Amino acid sequence: MNILRLRMVWERLAKEDPYWAVLTSPDKAGNRWQLEEFFQTGRDEVDACLNEMKRHRPDVARGAALDFGCGVGRLSQALARHYDRVTGIDVAERMIELANRHKPSDAADRIRYVHNARSDLRVFDDGAFDLVFSLITLQHIPPPLIEGYLGEFARITKLGGLIYFQLPSFAPNATPEVKKWSWYPPTLYTRLKRWTGRWFRRFTGIGDTMHMNTLPEARVRELLRAAGAEVISARQQTEQDGCISVIYLAEREV
Ligand SMILES: C[S@@+](CC[C@H](N)C(=O)[O-])C[C@H]1O[C@@H](n2cnc3c(N)ncnc32)[C@H](O)[C@@H]1O
Repeated sequence: MNILRLRMVWERLAKEDPYWAVLTSPDKAGNRWQLEEFFQTGRDEVDACLNEMKRHRPDVARGAALDFGCGVGRLSQALARHYDRVTGIDVAERMIELANRHKPSDAADRIRYVHNARSDLRVFDDGAFDLVFSLITLQHIPPPLIEGYLGEFARITKLGGLIYFQLPSFAPNATPEVKKWSWYPPTLYTRLKRWTGRWFRRFTGIGDTMHMNTLPEARVRELLRAAGAEVISARQQTEQDGCISVIYLAEREV
């Protein structure tokens, strides 16, 4: 799936059921999220993430933060309680519209949202952020694009700044179902299957939806190191059938 199709999928999800597309609790499908409860989940998650960062790096700068894949601003709003300036970026214009609509009035001048349907983050200068942050977003992006974004995360982080993100990896005992999600390393069989699937979806539109992807931890470390960032911690968050959700904290090296 290329960036344009990825955008189409998320524009559609954002139109149909945006809060559920962000947090897919089965009992919240059909626009059943209560907004206060929904945004409270963001505050709770960000507080927990910042506490974890603090344990590793107690004195980090709290200037500019980026929320990559910001959706309707659930985490961006929460980050603005701790950082001077927050930028949220998303591939779907409809998500950005909603994020702007939900911007809290007491932080409106410190949060900005950017629409970016590109496979790079050229919209930002080198070293623009003290923190690059991303939860439950990279897992929905095809690995060739994830690889590019990880390099971009390092480029746009200030020297000594932090990169905190979640991305699934998989264990050697992963079930075939989980391995099927992973594009890495793609065998000839999976390449052929994806190629035929792509054409099928292009003509029918069937199956063009949110996908789960994984990238092995070793590959994540390698890509970040090549871009000038070192992984400080890689915490396994949950495991299901050999698919492991990993929370990474990396530092842009001085
Ligand atoms: C499951 S939602 C999570 C939103 C937000 N991170 C949160 O936890 O509230 C994933 C978001 O990532 C966005 N997204 C997907 N691919 C993206 C890309 N290549 N660049 C930026 N945003 C992307 C989607 O539009 C969607 O808003």
